[in-house]
Amino acid sequence: MEFSAFQIEKTEAGFNRSVIQRNVDELPEGDVLIDVHYSSLNYKDGLSATGNPGVTRNFPHTPGIDAAGIVIQSSDQRVLVGEEVIVIGFDLGMNTSGGFAQRIRVPAEWVVKMPAGLSLHSSMILGTAGFTAAECIDKLERAGMTPSSGPVLVTGATGGVGSVAVRLLSHLGYQVTAATGKSDQHNFLRALGATEIVTREDVAAGTNKPLLAERWGGVVDTVGGDILFNAVKSLKYGCGLAACGLVAGPGFQANVLPFLLRNVNLLGVDSVQLPLDEKARIWGRLANEWLVDLSDLEEVLNLETLSEGIDRILAGAMVGRGVVHLR
Ligand SMILES: NC(=O)c1ccc[n+]([C@@H]2O[C@H](COP(=O)([O-])OP(=O)(O)OC[C@H]3O[C@@H](n4cnc5c(N)ncnc54)[C@H](OP(=O)(O)O)[C@@H]3O)[C@@H](O)[C@H]2O)c1
Repeated sequence: MEFSAFQIEKTEAGFNRSVIQRNVDELPEGDVLIDVHYSSLNYKDGLSATGNPGVTRNFPHTPGIDAAGIVIQSSDQRVLVGEEVIVIGFDLGMNTSGGFAQRIRVPAEWVVKMPAGLSLHSSMILGTAGFTAAECIDKLERAGMTPSSGPVLVTGATGGVGSVAVRLLSHLGYQVTAATGKSDQHNFLRALGATEIVTREDVAAGTNKPLLAERWGGVVDTVGGDILFNAVKSLKYGCGLAACGLVAGPGFQANVLPFLLRNVNLLGVDSVQLPLDEKARIWGRLANEWLVDLSDLEEVLNLETLSEGIDRILAGAMVGRGVVHLR
């Protein structure tokens, strides 16, 4: 059974990208074979496609950490042929052949049944980025954040995680401050629901100060580095920051004063190894009380246009969500 796939090949000159025909016999062992209808482009796919060894070590490789499709073979009774399913995270697209292809084969433990309310398409407008935005908000709310806590800062706001976070927080009644490096995307951010827009420089200023004025009732941080550190120092008393990303770098300075004097929380967020029942719970929220229209965030990609999208996401120039149409 042949199918089309995006492939990264390691050569002496670097990592080459192409669209090839593969056979399902070449896919890894697994319980469930899925006919993939949609995938989505995430920052991590850019890292995989350029040979980042923390993401992918084995080449040739098909990236794609997200997939939504229909089960066409299953040897596990928990997953039935004909079911619509979502697979995100675990090893998909890292060292397991990923969602930038019309077929994947994965363990049954990675497969989430599509909740009523979402479709194959809408689940991939969300994808890992949107799921992670929801996971950040879920974690902040479980730590006590409510709309009355104060404005919520979203960093990297025009990106995948950021743009979904802005829309979702606005839908939930929060005042949202969007931090962005893109001066030409303010209208886009206001349309998502941002009530205030600040620049990356605004939120990176004052790094040398031990504390900054109390400003945020919560923070969804997708960038790390000085911006994360400053945002922690600007949290209101008892509030929290959910850290999920590292586009500005994995390191950050720290001092204990915000924690000792303002009782704030720094919360880690991982969507990859999150257990399947937790994944299903968050997808369930996104299909019900957190169901929002994200169609205006979509940029349609396919296997042929994916390479150019990868270059843009690595340059920090992507806006919204790139959805890969595989049919
Ligand atoms: N923990 C997890 O499970 C998890 C899951 C998903 C994603 N992530 C991580 O979250 C981050 C965002 O992912 P994404 O898919 O949303 O990526 P993305 O679509 O590329 O968005 C990142 C955004 O960050 C901003 N940015 C880019 N370079 C920057 C820099 N040097 N300094 C400050 N801001 C910069 C840009 O937004 P503006 O121009 O608007 O500032 C960019 O659009 C990545 O690090 C990704 O690996 C983690």
